[in-house]
Amino acid sequence: MEFLQEIERRRTFGIISHPDAGKTTLTEKLLLYGGAIQEAGAVKSNKIKKGATSDFMEIERQRGISVATSVLAFYYQNKKINILDTPGHKDFAEDTYRTLTAVDSVIVVIDVAKGVEEQTEKLVEVCRLRKIPIIVFINKLDREGKDAFDLLDEVETKLGLRVTPLSFPIGMGYNFKGIYSVWEKNIQIFESKNKQKVAKTITYQTLKDNELQKTIGDEALVELKESLELLEGVYPPFNQEEYLAGNLQPVFFGSALNNFGVQELLDCFIQIAPAPLPKSTDKRIIKPNETAFSGFVFKIHANMDPNHRDRLAFIKVVSGTFKRNTPYLHVRHKKKIKFSSPNAFFAEKKEVVDKSFPGDIVGLHDTGNFKIGDTLTSGEEIHYKGIPRFSPEHFRFINNCDPMKAKQLNKGINQLMDEGVAQLFTLNLNGRKVIGTVGALQFEVIQYRLEHEYSAKCSFENLNIYKACWISTEDNENENYRDFLKVKQKFLAQDKQGQLVYLADSAFSLEFTQEKYPEITFHYTSEF
Ligand code: G4P
Repeated sequence: MEFLQEIERRRTFGIISHPDAGKTTLTEKLLLYGGAIQEAGAVKSNKIKKGATSDFMEIERQRGISVATSVLAFYYQNKKINILDTPGHKDFAEDTYRTLTAVDSVIVVIDVAKGVEEQTEKLVEVCRLRKIPIIVFINKLDREGKDAFDLLDEVETKLGLRVTPLSFPIGMGYNFKGIYSVWEKNIQIFESKNKQKVAKTITYQTLKDNELQKTIGDEALVELKESLELLEGVYPPFNQEEYLAGNLQPVFFGSALNNFGVQELLDCFIQIAPAPLPKSTDKRIIKPNETAFSGFVFKIHANMDPNHRDRLAFIKVVSGTFKRNTPYLHVRHKKKIKFSSPNAFFAEKKEVVDKSFPGDIVGLHDTGNFKIGDTLTSGEEIHYKGIPRFSPEHFRFINNCDPMKAKQLNKGINQLMDEGVAQLFTLNLNGRKVIGTVGALQFEVIQYRLEHEYSAKCSFENLNIYKACWISTEDNENENYRDFLKVKQKFLAQDKQGQLVYLADSAFSLEFTQEKYPEITFHYTSEF
């Protein structure tokens, strides 16, 4: 197949949701439709099981599974679909944010009874800011839930989206009768006993259709008519350009567990979702159809076996063809590396692959060369942008418990930070090291991994920090800025990239500092 056709047929996306909304179930159903798995239950959930929050070993074990489910690729109607896994657990939110830098679109899953939940709000905000095309899937229609119109309202107000329903439920829970597809102009009626089965599909021109009336009955028909009038009156019609620009979000209703609405979602998705998109670098925008290969690392997965300290770096191919055993430039290290066994991922298995195309994810074995955000190219010296670090939520000093092992400890900290487990800040005043994480859990993970993988022992010491803020100012010589550097010396640190960071100890002091030094901008992310 031609290079351009290979690009055009790829759809690389992520499914995001609050835990338990049905992300794993939906992923599995999509794989079933794609023929990539034969039975439900085959995909091991990468989600952290409930109740496991106090047992980090169990969490790490479960996360270990995620190598297999990091990318789930399958073919459907001659399209190659790459689903990138995004952990729902909030302690791993940063993993998810980074994965979102590698997707071309997302599907957001919302539980019909719970509506928009906290984690969904955060993740959608990241997508919205980056103008990622979003499709919303309202799940669990087999259960009683909120009114469909109320939910659409909630999606608009809480998520800041502009929605256009492409399907609509007829009834809900016990009274669920079927799904009206705005997209395909038909109605799927489900069997009343076995609600997993479509009893019939009615394609109709007008609501006066006899068969429609006979099948759903007068009452449901009146309700449907009213709903459709409202839908047409209130919501804008679907427009693909607006969807692709991130300004309009189609909504589907269904039940992943019971297969309603899932195939409709998939059929529409492959028609409207974007093929691999261009991406910005520090020098220029790279288009997928450029022949020279380029890609970037968005995730590093450590091998959980302490005897083999190799890791898997996940690269998103942005342009050109990635070929096995071909030397590519590691731009940060300015050296060429070739890879004898790059992995491609298919549903549950990974296999060595000779060629990968834009949109694909390649897994490269790494012994410590890569860190998140690294760019790999055929030779051009460019750096992909848009993989920011976010301000951590928890901060602690890290202390070495064994002076004989200082080297091992430093190496371990360096590598874990490159993997993106946490962030390191070094205080300007005294060189003390501060570790910042998204969830408290990561401290245990770090301590355990330093001991078992690097034979280094560490302890943590509490530190009262509210946020890490990256700093920018128009004029470094400004007197007020110099005053800030002097007065706040105790709270200034360098991140691992050498960028200056202000560690604010409270929301109040951050606000106060901002008022006192209006010419300084404080950013919650490292890219601005
Ligand atoms: P997540 O990955 O977003 O965290 O959610 P997951 O798919 O694991 O689904 C969470 C729970 O919701 C699961 O039940 C799953 O079976 C159920 N679920 C998913 N889709 C639907 C649906 O359309 N209707 C109904 N009624 N339930 C749905 P569980 O009991 O927590 O787990 P399990 O024992 O079934 O795996």
